[in-house]
Amino acid sequence: MSIQRVQSKQAKTDALLADADLQAFVPDTRSFSEQTVRNMLDRYGMIYVKPVKGTFGKGVIRVEKSAGGAKPYFFQSGERKYRFDSFDRMYGKLLAVKRNRAYLAQQGIHLLKYNNRRFDLRVMVQKNPANKWETTGMIGRLSHPRKIVTNYHSGGTPLPVEKLLAPTLASEQINELQANLREHGVKVAATLERKFPRLKEIGVDIALDEQLKPWILEVNTLPDVFLFRKLPNQSTFRRMFAYAVAYGRYSTRNRKRKA
Ligand SMILES: Nc1ncnc2c1ncn2[C@@H]1O[C@H](COP(=O)(O)OP(=O)(O)O)[C@@H](O)[C@H]1O
Ligand SMILES: [Mg+2]
Repeated sequence: MSIQRVQSKQAKTDALLADADLQAFVPDTRSFSEQTVRNMLDRYGMIYVKPVKGTFGKGVIRVEKSAGGAKPYFFQSGERKYRFDSFDRMYGKLLAVKRNRAYLAQQGIHLLKYNNRRFDLRVMVQKNPANKWETTGMIGRLSHPRKIVTNYHSGGTPLPVEKLLAPTLASEQINELQANLREHGVKVAATLERKFPRLKEIGVDIALDEQLKPWILEVNTLPDVFLFRKLPNQSTFRRMFAYAVAYGRYSTRNRKRKA
């Protein structure tokens, strides 16, 4: 049986919401519509709209509504920024930029910053050779200074979590947070597995807000293992890769992607 992959962010979010403990960590996520965008902007002030089946940060748009000013509506896609005096004008342009792709709208999280650049975390969770979920690695992703996404394929820089949190937390606190995130990762995997029983690996995108609350932005079912080669210590990558070989994503002879 092949490893299960799930593309739809909406389907994965719905699966997480089935667990009462996880609900509090999932940002409000709804399908894209004029009413949804209007209501969510009023409620949250900042939202992300993104393709239901996107990857690499492509097509992700950050939309903001500020309290006053001549042009209170703003959105950014890639490095392009747009400002508007009315919701209707903003929404018209948003439709043009997203084209006819299926999108969702999500409560925006104000990510923690490092050197004035936003970062989030990727938490890798895999079935270990004993067939139990195990968090096998964690890496930070620092956004390109002019972008609204942290993805490596959109100019983000992978860095050790300890480095990104050092200005904010003492090292014991960093360890504690990482231990919590590892547990969290296992919980996310076990919850998704109930709906998608042939999952073997997931990569959870976790945002830390300014209160250090972890939010689950999305779960990837075809997570990039090679990102973890960017960590100074290669042992994380080596174990991760060995687990992936054990459940059949790679063969040891040919390191090319099977899926
Ligand atoms: N709700 C959100 N609040 C804040 N930042 C977000 C939010 N959703 C996405 N982002 C940013 O955009 C990036 C890409 O979004 P994501 O949902 O992971 O899509 P993709 O599948 O393209 O990686 C995230 O890693 C994060 O940096
Ligand atoms: Mg992502």
